[in-house]
Amino acid sequence: MTLSGKSRIAGILGWPVSHSLSPRVHGFWLREHGIDGAYIPLPVDPKNFAVAVRALPQLGFRGANVTVPHKEAAFRAVDVVDPMAERLGTVNTIVVTETGKLEGRSTDGYGFMENLYAAETGWRANSGAAMVLGAGGAARAVVAALLEAGVNEVRVSNRTCARAEAIASEFAHMAAGEITVVPWEACAVGLENAALLVNTTTLGMIGHPALYLPLGTLPLSATVMDIVYTPLETELLAAARARGNPVVDGLGMLLHQARAGFAAWFGVEPQVTADLRRFVLDDLEGPAA
Ligand code: ATR
Repeated sequence: MTLSGKSRIAGILGWPVSHSLSPRVHGFWLREHGIDGAYIPLPVDPKNFAVAVRALPQLGFRGANVTVPHKEAAFRAVDVVDPMAERLGTVNTIVVTETGKLEGRSTDGYGFMENLYAAETGWRANSGAAMVLGAGGAARAVVAALLEAGVNEVRVSNRTCARAEAIASEFAHMAAGEITVVPWEACAVGLENAALLVNTTTLGMIGHPALYLPLGTLPLSATVMDIVYTPLETELLAAARARGNPVVDGLGMLLHQARAGFAAWFGVEPQVTADLRRFVLDDLEGPAA
């Protein structure tokens, strides 16, 4: 698409940013909808982040995504935040308002829930306990989203138990039901009667150690989700699929979280389609990946 002087511009601030799939996702939607606009990778060194992010309105940007390592700095830099960003202390989507203010949002939890519902595994918020592996930023977004959706028991297990305990005490007030910590060595116990298992750790990702988790205690009806998407089918998902559990891969979370920013910047509600997934996967699996 040739740009005009009226193009709508957004981008992604990260360091590094070259691995990001977001330019491809937004580029697909811009082309699909014939929008006079662009979504640009913006490699910004952390030492320059505060200046760079405040320059977005001056440069005419509609907004930007924010990725590692800037999500906390973005939370501090923006003028207003949405309730989820407030809860998590991180911002992954910035919208420049009509008056040039920076509005910070956190859309990872939204992307997680939308992906889970879109997979149509039969899972509902009232299906039963959810077991979450990990206690990093992704786990915090997932736990907050599950509690907000009304899940009455969320179990968190992490190698470093103190981080799981921190999530439990921080989000305890959000839960109408329970939020419990399961010792990492006793993960299998946390799978008992669970309706959902989510891996938010880096275990199973290409270049990282495998996730070794015997699934014997997990009900066969439980949905198993991995937020790792390199590889798309992790060992966890392969093992779950083999025993008959419904599975959901992690690519959809990335695609769904992107919808909110695109709609705000470019004025069109985009869809996550099989064509989009294929287009993004070509990049993940292709020779240049
Ligand atoms: P993010 O913010 O993307 O979630 P993170 O904060 O680095 O990333 O969290 C990575 C998660 O993977 C953590 O839960 C981490 O466990 P620790 O809190 O104990 O570090 C988990 N993780 C990474 N490598 C691991 C390993 N070898 N064994 C178990 N858990 C691991």
